[in-house]
Amino acid sequence: MNQDAKPMIVTCGLPYANGMAHLGHMRTYVPADIYVRSQRKQGREVVFICGSDTHGTPVVVNAEKEGITPKELVTIYHKHFSEIFARMGVHFDAYGTTDDEENHVRTTDIVQKLIDGGYVYSKNIDIAYCPSCDRFLPDRYVEGTCPHCGVIARGDECDQGCKKPLFPGELIDPRCAVCKNPAEYRSQEHYFFKLSEFDGFLKDYLDTLRGTDNAVNYAKGWVTQGLEDWCITRNMDWGVKFPGADGLVVYVWVDAPIGYIAFTEEWAKANNDSWEKFWKAESKGTIDTQDSEIVHFIGGDIVYHHCIFWPAMLKGSGYSLPTDVVASGMVKIEDKKFSKSRGYVVWVGEDYLDQGFHPDLLRYYLSSYTSHTKELNFGWDMLQEKINSELVAVLGNLFYRSLLFASKNFGEIPNGTVEPEILKKIKQTTADAIDALKEYEFKKYSDTVMELASFANSYFQSHEPWALIKTDKEKCGEVVYNCLQLVKALAVLFEPVTPGKMQEAWIQLGLSGNVADVLYDEALVPLVPGAKLGTPEILFTKLEDDKISEMDEIAKRRVHLAMKEAGLVPDEEKLIEESKKGKKENKSEKGGKAPKCACAAGEKMDAENKTENVENVENETEILPEITIDDFFKAQIKVGKIISAEIIEKSTKLYKIMVDVGEPEPRQIVSGIRAYYEANELVDKTVCVIVNLKPAKLCGVQSQGMILAADDGSGKVSLLMPDQELEPGSDVC
Ligand code: MSP
Ligand code: ZN
Repeated sequence: MNQDAKPMIVTCGLPYANGMAHLGHMRTYVPADIYVRSQRKQGREVVFICGSDTHGTPVVVNAEKEGITPKELVTIYHKHFSEIFARMGVHFDAYGTTDDEENHVRTTDIVQKLIDGGYVYSKNIDIAYCPSCDRFLPDRYVEGTCPHCGVIARGDECDQGCKKPLFPGELIDPRCAVCKNPAEYRSQEHYFFKLSEFDGFLKDYLDTLRGTDNAVNYAKGWVTQGLEDWCITRNMDWGVKFPGADGLVVYVWVDAPIGYIAFTEEWAKANNDSWEKFWKAESKGTIDTQDSEIVHFIGGDIVYHHCIFWPAMLKGSGYSLPTDVVASGMVKIEDKKFSKSRGYVVWVGEDYLDQGFHPDLLRYYLSSYTSHTKELNFGWDMLQEKINSELVAVLGNLFYRSLLFASKNFGEIPNGTVEPEILKKIKQTTADAIDALKEYEFKKYSDTVMELASFANSYFQSHEPWALIKTDKEKCGEVVYNCLQLVKALAVLFEPVTPGKMQEAWIQLGLSGNVADVLYDEALVPLVPGAKLGTPEILFTKLEDDKISEMDEIAKRRVHLAMKEAGLVPDEEKLIEESKKGKKENKSEKGGKAPKCACAAGEKMDAENKTENVENVENETEILPEITIDDFFKAQIKVGKIISAEIIEKSTKLYKIMVDVGEPEPRQIVSGIRAYYEANELVDKTVCVIVNLKPAKLCGVQSQGMILAADDGSGKVSLLMPDQELEPGSDVC
């Protein structure tokens, strides 16, 4: 181990234990995991920490919706995230929750120190209060109009409009997010953190803070603009109690980052080690003189909290400061801004791992698609292209052809020595790769290592071992030996990115132990001639077109479903309104009575959604382009008879319906007509079904078609039914 190095802790932005893991999340965790693995390969001891962010109003609001307690909700998602991380090969040394005892104690300590240091003051402010629910409405419990841009916003952030953070009392026309009744402002005593007093400190601090430019430069800009004090208390029960004030908990962004310290304490307890060496390290006042390194990996959305608020809190309470903040660009799906409500989301479990995709492919994509600070676009076809042309065609090809050839012709590591040229190449690649990570350039790391694989393929190709084996077996052995050495080096170098697959390669090379545990130097250690080889197997197989179009189809359906749920469909009422306003001239085309699918006919919109959606509708509901009769006949529609309909527990809108469409087996179809039909009412109805729609999973349930229904736009939805009894399987034409 590298004894001179300072103790290093690496953390990741804590996921809210409030929903499932998606691809956006992985852009924080996968690169951080690569970074940690790479540090360890350099002999550096690193503690890798994360945990669930369990407090805050989103958790409480969601728990209320689900009819469970916040504790129950976060327990479910804490387990979910832990499982996803394990499956993705992201291994934390500690993974706690911000509701752990350690975090309550540490948060209370820090807040008390800030109070004692004179950094906290109280002030009476107007807080939204709902007379019908008889309670104060913190953050997401309240909605209203943004004072800055006039768009409907939630209490803590203008999430749909100008994105500015909002403070208690700022929303115009507040109303309760739960019962939707108007709220009133009532004066109440709250506590503020004097962030403004830290601007001098922060200016100096940010001049030395390392990490990515996007983090450091944004933060500098905010300090220049001037800092506002933060209200750090909320009226809630769920959270860490604010010392000395009944009925108040600390704001979630106070106790969440403190989780980094608390989880280090949990790690220290379990490993009989010290947490103080990271968080109470000696320092002569600057980052460079601090005797520990604290590296935060986050997404670009939470830079303010990590570069401004958090260092000020640590400074004010006498703890060590973050030395590096590494912020990734945001993840987009099919070039669209990530949005769960609009269906632009890829769930790591349901859509990726459960579909049989190997975690390493996603790890490779996330780290090598683009530079770490840039936006990353995900599309299934792009994943396919990258995997097939790089991991399969270059890396996988080299591994398999070298190992197979060696195994068939030598049955063991042949006699040979590593050519100086190849040693040099491995050394240079390792140095360049390490340098790339010093700059948090994950793409450069992968590209550099992949170049070594290309070089190795050319080496194999140009030395023609398949010809040599017939003429000069000894010379052939030399060539194969060098190829295997390159395979070994690549397994070591790629391990941080694709750990599972490189471990398989390690075993195929006949090497023992874990490739994760070896240092980079091992890449140069010559293989032992005569050592037994493992069984060669193909490491990376092509992603096939069929699978990719299946995934594409699922993605499209999700967007369609989300649009329906959000009411983002052409609907007559809105169009009439719009045409009245003179905004649209051609209402009949858009508001036409063409049949629509009932895969997820949305519930009636509430008033709030309406305000939001009317604007969106203008962007989202283009008149569809003309189609030919051939296009129309691509859809095969048949008459079907409903055999049964069952509620899908995970959803509020969907039924699982079994339909006889004249085939030997009934079809299982997921349909969003629960708001319009009772389950028993559906049985025996004769309906129209698109039978050649690509199957998709909705809420985890397989759907093999779509039942047609019409929607008049005012909330009336009717199944399309033939006006005479027809045999199931009859064609609709
Ligand atoms: N709970 C806060 C972080 C508290 S840290 C003391 C939070 N949670 S989150 O679940 O929304 O995000 C977890 C991590 O994933 C964060 O690092 C966040 O930046 C990252 N991402 C979440 N969605 C993302 C994208 N769409 N794209 C890239 N990263 C994003 O924020
Ligand atoms: Zn706004």
